[in-house]
Amino acid sequence: MYMILQTRNLVKTYGKGENAVNVVDGFSFDLAEGEFLSVMGPSGSGKSTLLNCISTIDSPTSGSILINGKELQSLKPKETARFRRENLGFIFQEYNLIDALRVKENIALSLMLNRERKEKIAEEVNNIASLLGIDSLLDKYPYEISGGEKQRTACARAVIHKPKILMADEPSGALDSHSTKVLMETFSKINKKLGTTIIMVTHDAFCASYSGRVLFLKDGKLFSELKNVHNSRRAFYEEIFKAAIALGE
Ligand SMILES: Nc1ncnc2c1ncn2[C@@H]1O[C@H](COP(=O)(O)OP(=O)(O)OP(=O)(O)O)[C@@H](O)[C@H]1O
Ligand SMILES: [Mg+2]
Repeated sequence: MYMILQTRNLVKTYGKGENAVNVVDGFSFDLAEGEFLSVMGPSGSGKSTLLNCISTIDSPTSGSILINGKELQSLKPKETARFRRENLGFIFQEYNLIDALRVKENIALSLMLNRERKEKIAEEVNNIASLLGIDSLLDKYPYEISGGEKQRTACARAVIHKPKILMADEPSGALDSHSTKVLMETFSKINKKLGTTIIMVTHDAFCASYSGRVLFLKDGKLFSELKNVHNSRRAFYEEIFKAAIALGE
């Protein structure tokens, strides 16, 4: 099993002197290529901070992060930006689509910035849209589609350049239960059909039940871990739900 992501003794400290708090407090974990991992934990437990460090948006105070064999701290700022563009895809709670661009242009953005050929871009956009079932949205603007459709558009945008790892922070945070289910089926498809490794922060046991493993954070530390050994999403959901309550989620 190839470990595509490894963190060792990761620490992120905010504040100075007496007020210093380790928001991420010596966190070590491995992520295997092809895994779909969820991260849960109470509000303020350091989930977003952890994800921001792994995704190169923020930098840790100490410790190491290895992605696809590269030590992130050893990269120069320009190399970091390039590494992020080529290896990572992001999905945020608020979709972050560009209102002035059509759905197909939003999806194509990273390929356009890479100056790919027009025909190639159109082909890639059509492929991913058809895989994710959003073909009919391509000519619309973000204000003409629903929240769920916006988030599936954001999924297509995040994976069109075939990133090694897809990172999502509360991707269903603004969605109703039906759109959440469709979004999680989309994540499953991305994981299984494209082989993309996924790390997703969520408060929702239902969402986490679509993943293969759940890490529970408390006060910046690993509190517990669950794997889906049931071959049943529903049984895994029950287990995650109980563990989340025990943790005070
Ligand atoms: N830039 C910052 N400066 C100081 N403190 C910060 C900063 N960012 C986050 N924190 C603090 O670090 C802690 C962890 O924040 P983080 O956003 O990682 O939590 P979280 O687990 O994602 O919570 P939530 O579930 O509410 O999103 C919180 O106490 C927060 O106030
Ligand atoms: Mg957060």
